[in-house]
Amino acid sequence: MDSRSTFSSRMGLVLATAGSAVGLGNLWRFSYVTGENGGAAFVVIYIICVILLGIPCMVGEFIIGRSQGANAVRAYAKLPKANNWWGLVGALGVLTSIVILGFYCVVAGWCLHYLGCALADNIPATSAESAAYFKNLNENTWYPVIWGIVFLLLTHVIVRFGVKNGIERVSKYLMPVLLFLLFVLMVAACSLPGAWRGVKFLFQPDWDCVNVNTFIEALGQAFFSLSLGMTCLCTYASYFDKGTNLVLTANQIAILDTMVAILAGLIIFPAAFAVGVQPDSGPGLVFVTLPGVFHTAFSEMPTMGFVISVMFYALIVLAALTSTISMHEVGTAFFTEETKLSRPAAAWIMTIITVIITIPCALSQGLVPQFSVLGMDLLSFLDTMSGNYFMPIGALLSCAVLGWIVPSDYVRREFVGSQPRLAVLFLPLIILLRFVCPIFIIVVMLSKLGLL
Ligand code: PFF
Repeated sequence: MDSRSTFSSRMGLVLATAGSAVGLGNLWRFSYVTGENGGAAFVVIYIICVILLGIPCMVGEFIIGRSQGANAVRAYAKLPKANNWWGLVGALGVLTSIVILGFYCVVAGWCLHYLGCALADNIPATSAESAAYFKNLNENTWYPVIWGIVFLLLTHVIVRFGVKNGIERVSKYLMPVLLFLLFVLMVAACSLPGAWRGVKFLFQPDWDCVNVNTFIEALGQAFFSLSLGMTCLCTYASYFDKGTNLVLTANQIAILDTMVAILAGLIIFPAAFAVGVQPDSGPGLVFVTLPGVFHTAFSEMPTMGFVISVMFYALIVLAALTSTISMHEVGTAFFTEETKLSRPAAAWIMTIITVIITIPCALSQGLVPQFSVLGMDLLSFLDTMSGNYFMPIGALLSCAVLGWIVPSDYVRREFVGSQPRLAVLFLPLIILLRFVCPIFIIVVMLSKLGLL
């Protein structure tokens, strides 16, 4: 039971960290946000946000985590020139990861339920039937609560075994399977008659659709998808060794993550366009629109329809699992190191706190509509709070501490590690962390608040 070991291989490190990034954000959120924001133009802006803001912030979190080799709270508090107050940034990260894990398990639980339906060949056949099915599932059954908890327990079991024996080992198996499923599904979806309209939607930009909101959505999506601003990557980086090339790692993860999002788009949009369904139906896309789409698209070949549905929901479940593991690890590392508890006991604390959020989130979807805040159901409320405020504030503060508080000699040394070639990239990095990223994040937050 290793609470502070390191990843045992570079491959394991990249796959585990990419596993954190690749998740519902790529398969579920990216497709509906792209659908709502006009397709290709959004994708271009998204990629610019990843390169200019996502990668530097990721390197920043890596520097903090690797230099301190500790959980997020301690890592921030112990940075040179920082004081205990900075530990609160780490604490905000731990809190955000608990909140996101809480509602993420509900969505992941839906995926698990749909995987069960796909395996039983019981997927609703048309979009109208799917809508009624999804509504009934949430309003009249306890399945969302049960599957949400099952998903959380699955995550718990993996994290409990530690970094090498749990997280790294599982990621090494799951990530290749995930990439294989993605590829097969992409080929199947793109070979449907009429699929090209979906491909065009994803690759032919329509700049008329672009407005300030497109930038806000793209930045939010980039942060969510790359797992930034909630100390998750900082926690994983505390298990990197000094020889790890941080820039190469961040680039590899950003490329893998973006590739998966685009491949997912190449499954979802061609399939939707092939059967004449508009892909802008919001969060319900994967649970309401798509089940019917797969059924209709492969109606001539029912066995193929069955296989494709099973593969698609298996893909989402696997992707969600590699992300929930990373969120769980943030809290588990914190409770292990800041209490005298063993890792398994600390993992239980994290699971129990999370379940207290998962249950009302699941109930708020229909069974107990009173679980709502400011006119939003609890799940949407927590999603909005964490995406619009907690994550950007976390990212902003991590840029601030590295850019303005910690002495730049120290940042430079920790950035370069044992890779002297990286020294030339230090100046651009510090400019991005000091000015570009904070300004962008502040502008986005102010416009979200309607103050710009
Ligand atoms: N990046 C994950 C996704 O795209 O689904 C979500 C996520 C995981 C966000 C871990 C934050 C995090 F710390």
